Amino acid sequence: MKNLMIKNIPMFADLRDDILEKIYNLMQRRVYKRNNMILMEEDFGDTLFILNRGSVKITRLSDDGREVILSILGEGDFFGEMSIFDGESRSANVVALEDSEVYILKRGDFIDLLEKHPKIAIALLQELATRLRKSDQQIEGLSLSDAENRIGMTISRLAEELGVIKMGQVVIHNLPYQQDIANMAGTSRETVSRMLTLLQRKGYIQKRGRKLIITNYDEFVKQFG
Ligand code: CMP
Repeated sequence: MKNLMIKNIPMFADLRDDILEKIYNLMQRRVYKRNNMILMEEDFGDTLFILNRGSVKITRLSDDGREVILSILGEGDFFGEMSIFDGESRSANVVALEDSEVYILKRGDFIDLLEKHPKIAIALLQELATRLRKSDQQIEGLSLSDAENRIGMTISRLAEELGVIKMGQVVIHNLPYQQDIANMAGTSRETVSRMLTLLQRKGYIQKRGRKLIITNYDEFVKQFG
């Protein structure tokens, strides 16, 4: 059934099928190719985006023109809610990291849903609390750690956001490019490359093409979490 797809979105997880159907009918589907800009910082916006397939990076430009990656979002995640709530322009750029499919909801329809279904509002608040917690960790990590630890922390974060856990191992199927990892960790691509080789040699990770496996996730988080 067509509403099955939105059942997998955490924000809508607990809703009845007839309500899911109504929400589905309010949404508009759009697809983006890898590297397409979905939202641009400073643009006006009053729509919410739900990522059904693919992944996106949330970025801003630093004063000296470098791309800083604030976060990477994967399937089932939403974005665009900040402008909806505070009425300001878009707070960051959103760029497709791979071919992606999104569903879009208009501000009025979204606010209506939040008023009628508190479960959606609670799930949304949970996710916003998680994002704030991650941002706090990122600020701490960027200011306190050396480049190598920052890369370890970034991989740990990517595992949380994009990885699949199975028997103590985490597999990231579509590891972002080394330049993107560098822009998340606030370091250079060369340092990322060196650190990935070192982590492999020490047995923490295995890398095959775009696939990265963290061999013992608990241990990795203890070291870099
Ligand atoms: P909005 O400001 O409307 O447009 C850009 C979107 O990027 C924003 O809403 C959020 O959905 C998302 N975003 C901004 N900062 C972060 C962050 N630190 N972590 C995750 N998502 C973010």
